Formats: sequence, C-alpha cells, structure tokens
Amino acid sequence: MALPSHSLINNNNNTLFFQIYLSSSHKSQYRPSRIRALPKDSSRSIVEIEPFACPICYEPLIRKGPLGFNVPAIYRSGFKCKKCNKSYSSKDLYLDLTVTYGMKEYTEVKPTRTELFRSPLVSFLYERGWRQNFNRSGFPGPDEEFKLAQDYFKPVEGGLLVDVSCGSGLFSRKFAKSGAYSGVVALDFSENMLLQCYDFIKKDDTIVDLNLALVRADVARLPFPPASVDAVHAGAALHCWPSPSNAVAEISRILRSGGVFVGSTFLAGVFGNSVPGGIFRSFRQTVQLTNSTYNNLTEEEIEDLCKSCGLTNYTCKVQQSFIMFSAQKP
Ligand SMILES: C[S@@+](CC[C@H](N)C(=O)[O-])C[C@H]1O[C@@H](n2cnc3c(N)ncnc32)[C@H](O)[C@@H]1O
Repeated sequence: MALPSHSLINNNNNTLFFQIYLSSSHKSQYRPSRIRALPKDSSRSIVEIEPFACPICYEPLIRKGPLGFNVPAIYRSGFKCKKCNKSYSSKDLYLDLTVTYGMKEYTEVKPTRTELFRSPLVSFLYERGWRQNFNRSGFPGPDEEFKLAQDYFKPVEGGLLVDVSCGSGLFSRKFAKSGAYSGVVALDFSENMLLQCYDFIKKDDTIVDLNLALVRADVARLPFPPASVDAVHAGAALHCWPSPSNAVAEISRILRSGGVFVGSTFLAGVFGNSVPGGIFRSFRQTVQLTNSTYNNLTEEEIEDLCKSCGLTNYTCKVQQSFIMFSAQKP
C-alpha cells in the first residue's frame, strides 16, 4: 500500500505541523500508523492532522499533544475545530466527540435501545454472559463472526477501520490485534461500554500500544470527514440504533470510494430471534426489552437501506435470525 507523502513545516510556535497529501485517489488520506516524525524539541509537543472531525461541522480536528494513535497518547491530547472554535478532550480515558460534549445545561435522552447500554451493569455483563446469549438466535460467536468480517474486509486491509457501536470492544480488540489495519477506532455512545473496553485493553499488554483509539460518538453524527475511512464494522448494532437510516447514511458519508461496511444484527420475524434471557430475564422485564423495543429489520429492508444510502455490492450471510451483511462505497 502506498504511503502518504507528508511534509514537516516548522512554525513559529516551535512545533511541527504535518501536512498530508493524498497518496492515491482510492485510499483514505488518513493513515494514523504511518504518521510519524521526530519532534523538534524534547517536549514532544506537536500539532498534527487527525482522522477525527468535528461532529458539528465535519471539519478535520487539529490535535495538540504527544505523538501516536493509541489510547495513552490520545488521552493526553487536546483536539480543536478551527471552524467552530470548539475543543474536545478525553474524558475518563475515551475521547468524547459527541455534539453534546461540553454542554452544561442541556441533556438528551435517547431511546431505550441506546440508553440501556449506557448502564454500568449492562456494560459489565455484556462480555460476561449477555452476548453469549446471541448464539441462541444463530450468532455463530465472536471468533467465527470476526473471521467472516475479516473476509469481507480483505479489499481494505491496511486502512483505517471504525468499529461503530463497539460495545466493550469485543471486535475492536480483535481488529487491532490482527495487525491488518493502520488504525482502529473503537466507537460507541455508551460511556460505560468504553470504560469496560479500556479495562479489557489494560489487562492485555499486547493491546495498549496498538493503533487503537477509544471514541464516544453517536452513530448518527460520526466524527470523521467525508470519504476518509476505509472500513466500518458494526457488530450486533443496527437493531439498537435510534434511526438505522441516519446511521447508514452517515457510514456511507465517511467511507471513501471502495470502502467496505460490514454489519450484523438480528433479523425481524425469524423464529429463534431472542433478546438475552436466563439470568437477564428479570432485568429485561424491568426495562421492557421486547423485540419491539429493538428495531429489528428484515433482510430486504437492510438491503434497501444500504442501497438507498448509496452503497453497492450488497451481500449477506444468514443463520436463523443472525445476518451479517456487507456493502461497498462505489
Ligand atoms: C448489542 S451492542 C453491540 C456491541 C458489539 N459491537 C458486539 O458486536 O457485541 C450494541 C451497541 O450499540 C451502541 N449504540 C446504541 N445506540 C447508539 C448510538 N446512537 N450511537 C452509537 N452507538 C450506539 C450501544 O451502546 C451498544 O454498545
């Protein structure tokens, strides 16, 4: 894969600017792992162009802080939108790029299918039994799902992957560890899921320094410039989104030409479709987690959604109510 050409410009503030030029027309210009330069002084303070964009105006954010596309470096960095003059920084170890970041008076409550996963209990239980329940509906399990997704992502290996609605990072960690991507963004709306993700990363020495970023964002307002991302993964997520059409439109906006979207979800109206039961049953009843609370779609609806949002080469694999689908940005 061609590396982006970049130049270093010495500015008056004794910092180094990176300017990244498009290396080829069909690859994203953002290559976090490739962006490297020696700092001019020992402070290692630099300003560099990032893959992240302002969630308000989608202008690329300017970053100030230590080098590197990894959790510790991003945590110690500040991000600013020159157009909106709004600053973003890491809160509790993840970078908060929601529109509401910094608002003091305004609060917003999302639908139950989004709010449920913000709970510390659900976030804790998610990889400790909750997700295993999906097997009863035909989900083949994380290892097999990861393999299926990796097959779909073959054409975009080496690029920037965004794991949208990553939960506690089950697949983000696998993508990062695979070494197949220049950068992996684990993105979710739930603060507690991201904190869980950090806990899992912390316990695994092989992940902390990998090209992995933790970002809080809304799938309907993805903090990336248009046509800047090579791969978007959304595992078991579409049925949780407040508006699947807004979400898929956003995913289509950020994918560069040739970029690949892979998603999985529970299909509507298929026998065996279930939300977590067993030890979770009483909790489920408490929050009235019925299938109608989730937004399950049919196979035809998912295909229609992808095509109507400008994606092509739609293909899918179905097993009971599990569907994994893939579509490409032309
Ligand atoms: C069932 S979990 C899927 C987690 C993981 N991707 C997996 O495959 O197991 C669904 C995730 O969607 C996230 N989610 C719900 N609404 C969202 C929104 N508006 N924007 C981003 N993520 C959202 C939830 O926080 C939750 O972590």
